[in-house]
Amino acid sequence: MTKRKVFILGGGGFIGFAMVRILAARGGYDITIGDNFIRKQDDEETMQFIAEHGIRLIRGDFSDPAQFDRLDDAYDDFYMLASMIGVNNTLEMPHEIIRMNTALIFNSLEWLKRAKVRNVLFTSTSECYSGTTDRFGYAIPTPEEVPLCIDPIDHPRFTYAVTKMLGESGFMNYGRMLGFNCRIIRYSNVFGPRMGFKHVIPHLVERFLDGESPYKIYGASQTRSFCYIEDGALGTIQAMEYEATPSEIFHLGAKEEITIEQLVRETGRYFGYDGTYEVAPTYPGSVERRCPDISKAQRLLGYDPKIDWRDGLKLTLDWYVRYYKEQNPDGTRHFDAPDKFYK
Ligand SMILES: NC(=O)c1ccc[n+]([C@@H]2O[C@H](COP(=O)([O-])OP(=O)(O)OC[C@H]3O[C@@H](n4cnc5c(N)ncnc54)[C@H](O)[C@@H]3O)[C@@H](O)[C@H]2O)c1
Repeated sequence: MTKRKVFILGGGGFIGFAMVRILAARGGYDITIGDNFIRKQDDEETMQFIAEHGIRLIRGDFSDPAQFDRLDDAYDDFYMLASMIGVNNTLEMPHEIIRMNTALIFNSLEWLKRAKVRNVLFTSTSECYSGTTDRFGYAIPTPEEVPLCIDPIDHPRFTYAVTKMLGESGFMNYGRMLGFNCRIIRYSNVFGPRMGFKHVIPHLVERFLDGESPYKIYGASQTRSFCYIEDGALGTIQAMEYEATPSEIFHLGAKEEITIEQLVRETGRYFGYDGTYEVAPTYPGSVERRCPDISKAQRLLGYDPKIDWRDGLKLTLDWYVRYYKEQNPDGTRHFDAPDKFYK
């Protein structure tokens, strides 16, 4: 049987590698990963999995167009997940977010002119409509047809979303001109083990382990919907393999909208924290409410998120606590997270 030939740019990352695991377990896929492991996710377990499953790894910085010459001429599916992410990065080096993400998008699109690829999927974000929901009161849960809006345009935090908007338009319009099927995924807060150390959940873990008391809840009333990694990764594959129409946008996430306070208190319960909590302000520009309408993905893809945020949180906390304990066997609270100096 011919295998379905898949190229995942950014396939060593959090969502990409969760997809790789699903595809490898299913069988019938010939998988190539392109990644420079900028977030140091090339740990021993990951590299062993890649070797054991006959996955081809092209290690390189794909903001350099020459890296694309290392690829084959034809693929069934191209998943484009590579991106510079993280609120800290947007605030500390917004110019690099613009340069890196634009280069990754542009090089991918130009490669698609010469490569034979049937289906392409680009990963975008709910940040693209945070201005619309916050400023214009658009519906929450938010459906795919929401107008995208950045507000304010000069805020460094939104450089990331601006590049995602470019990618959405770029992939859909190159698809229209070149004849490949195009899927856009806008994720909302996918979380789980191995998501890196710049996320709200590892930060909460570090601070609980550090014994912070009173424990500050930054942006307590803000809401999010937390989607467990296995659900998000499976939904992404379902979107890629949905071929009924040439071009679709899907919101992938979870249905339940919770406050940051709920998340923090649930984490506190996990750690047996019995001190007090104190409400504190969060990043300027941080969106007030966010929850995707996922009914289109449910209807067309059979997307069916199975893991409730509390169960997913427990699995995630178990992983981070184990990680930090292994890093600090002497009990010192020295958290040298591998992607701390993500440049
Ligand atoms: N995790 C979420 O909640 C979320 C939300 C919205 C959007 N997204 C998008 O989904 C995609 C995957 O996100 P993730 O959470 O897995 O992030 P991630 O950082 O774990 O994965 C991105 C991968 O891209 C790789 N990469 C970055 N720059 C590269 C380059 N120049 N050349 C080659 N590889 C490079 C990184 O090494 C990393 O492995 C990203 O495009 C992200 O913007 C994720």
